[in-house]
Amino acid sequence: MTGRVITIAQQKGGAGKTSLAVHLAVAWAAEGRSVALIDIDPQESLTQWWRQRLEGGRANSRNLSLKTLAGWRASSEVDRLRREVDLVVIDSPPHAETAARVGVRSADLVLIPVQLSPMDVWATRPTIDMATRERVPVLVVANRVPPRGRLPDEMRAELERDRLPMAAAQLGNRTAFAASLADGLGVTEAEPSSSAAAEIMALAAEVLATASPRKR
Ligand SMILES: Nc1ncnc2c1ncn2[C@@H]1O[C@H](COP(=O)(O)OP(=O)(O)O)[C@@H](O)[C@H]1O
Ligand SMILES: [Mg+2]
Repeated sequence: MTGRVITIAQQKGGAGKTSLAVHLAVAWAAEGRSVALIDIDPQESLTQWWRQRLEGGRANSRNLSLKTLAGWRASSEVDRLRREVDLVVIDSPPHAETAARVGVRSADLVLIPVQLSPMDVWATRPTIDMATRERVPVLVVANRVPPRGRLPDEMRAELERDRLPMAAAQLGNRTAFAASLADGLGVTEAEPSSSAAAEIMALAAEVLATASPRKR
């Protein structure tokens, strides 16, 4: 088996990396894919969500597992896991640190969440440059998009002008994303018929269509 490795990276904290990791992994696992989550962020927010999940009675399963690792240990573990599962999802730390670089280097696709405001859009550049240096394709995902507004439209246009690969799917600013995390769930489990769940499923499908295993 050659699993695909999706690394979620963005040097800006609070962009939505951990949220994306959770909601996408849960959605893929529910489709019957085997998914291994790897938390290389020393803040371990993903690991905390996982503990919440275990306390809620959902056990570690073949379909969905989690490993908490120091960044430097990630690449050998990723090499091992990609032979065992369909998808490896890496949640990385907020800064352009060594750990983030390891995550990017291991990836078949780097997924970059970005909120459509100037500071967030500017902060995306170093992650894109890092991925470009490592020759890893990227997909930029607009997150917490308000229902309307001139600024988000302008920011999206700016990203497109720079020829950055923007996902067609985007995520709105919705409380369901945060509320489900508190219960150790993904939004597709907690509120399967919500708009938030529909957005995640659209993104999950688009990421799978975009990510192909790289030749190594
Ligand atoms: N689309 C969204 N709608 C509402 N809240 C969101 C959304 N995406 C993220 N959040 C919230 O924003 C905060 C930061 O998200 P998080 O995933 O922890 O970012 P990061 O891992 O990049 O630091 C969290 O409280 C999370 O629940
Ligand atoms: Mg995080």
